[in-house]
Amino acid sequence: MLDFSQQDHRRGFRSKKWSRFGPDVLPLPVADMDCTIAEPIQAALNERVAHGIFGYDHPPENAISVFVQHCAEQYDWAVDPEWIVPVGGVVPAQFAAVRAFSQGGQIAIPNPIYHSFPRAPEIGDAQAQAIGSVLQQGRETLDLQAFEACLAQADNAGVSLLCNPHNPGGAVYTQDELQQISTIAHTHQNVLVSDEIWADLILDNLPHHPMAKIDPVWGISILAATKTWNIAGLHLAFVVIPNPDLRVRFQSAIIGYPEVSYLAWIATTAAYQQGGPWRSALLDHLRGQRATMQAFVEQHPHLSMTHLQGTYLAWVDCRALNRPALHADCVAAGLGPDDGEPYGKPGFLRFNLACSAPLLEQALQRFAGVIA
Ligand SMILES: Cc1ncc(COP(=O)(O)O)c(C=O)c1O
Repeated sequence: MLDFSQQDHRRGFRSKKWSRFGPDVLPLPVADMDCTIAEPIQAALNERVAHGIFGYDHPPENAISVFVQHCAEQYDWAVDPEWIVPVGGVVPAQFAAVRAFSQGGQIAIPNPIYHSFPRAPEIGDAQAQAIGSVLQQGRETLDLQAFEACLAQADNAGVSLLCNPHNPGGAVYTQDELQQISTIAHTHQNVLVSDEIWADLILDNLPHHPMAKIDPVWGISILAATKTWNIAGLHLAFVVIPNPDLRVRFQSAIIGYPEVSYLAWIATTAAYQQGGPWRSALLDHLRGQRATMQAFVEQHPHLSMTHLQGTYLAWVDCRALNRPALHADCVAAGLGPDDGEPYGKPGFLRFNLACSAPLLEQALQRFAGVIA
């Protein structure tokens, strides 16, 4: 059962989201959710913890086949188990990919973007080249002309980072857009590293197209159960690399990385295998939260918001308010969204909608007071 009633206890468990601001601030930053996890995941973890011995264990026997089945059912994608490289987290996988494929120079990174992305090029002796977005029917998607221009430069590093569904903004890339990206990558011999951590949190009735399915030569898809099933602290990412040459290079780049924790394997396997009904309930809840947020934005002419096709992160353009201290003013008034600046866009606020409906309503009342 989806349960958002335990949220107030999060502070006592040192939640980063609940301890970022003071005790009177309603917290809406950091992409995890205020709900407890699905019962089958909790039961699988309880059983393992009750065993009481935490030595070196193999992953559950069915862990890979369960993920392969998830890809078949959810993305209509036949994944060969050999293509899969497990890594303890999506961000470590991004960084390893840059280390594996960068030849130094410019790496195309979307803007705005989750804050780990612009830091990744450092590890490959490269620089981030921010690729802006274009507004298309209410959604912000990658500027493909700027992307191509970046890859065409003589000092392009030979690898680019993508995020689909996109954080922040929530755009879900279409097959056509991904095919255009793939064509550009082929022309310029560029590895496409696609962070797809949000793939199972699409709110509209749209399919997720993994980059490595669209382009098995240059595409790499990084998938994980961690966002969708609220097990972000139990890091496990599946890096799917159909091209064997790229896979070997990536595997060299993760030598020395810690093994994935056994509890992460257990939680992820239970999530993919038994977490379907819980995810459906979650998506319904998030659609309701999105509607509340959209209605609020529509009532306030100085605000606008891209249509959140996926993710639970509302990306609100507040630039028309012309309030450089808006984020600080929000915190002073008792609500704590993320500031847009670390995502590359000052003047925006990012609201994490994965909270209870009353909390969001209260937060929006406070926001209305700030911008009145
Ligand atoms: C796009 C994206 N990638 C990666 C992460 C973090 O992944 P991990 O905790 O597995 O490193 C997040 C967290 O919000 C994210 O939004």
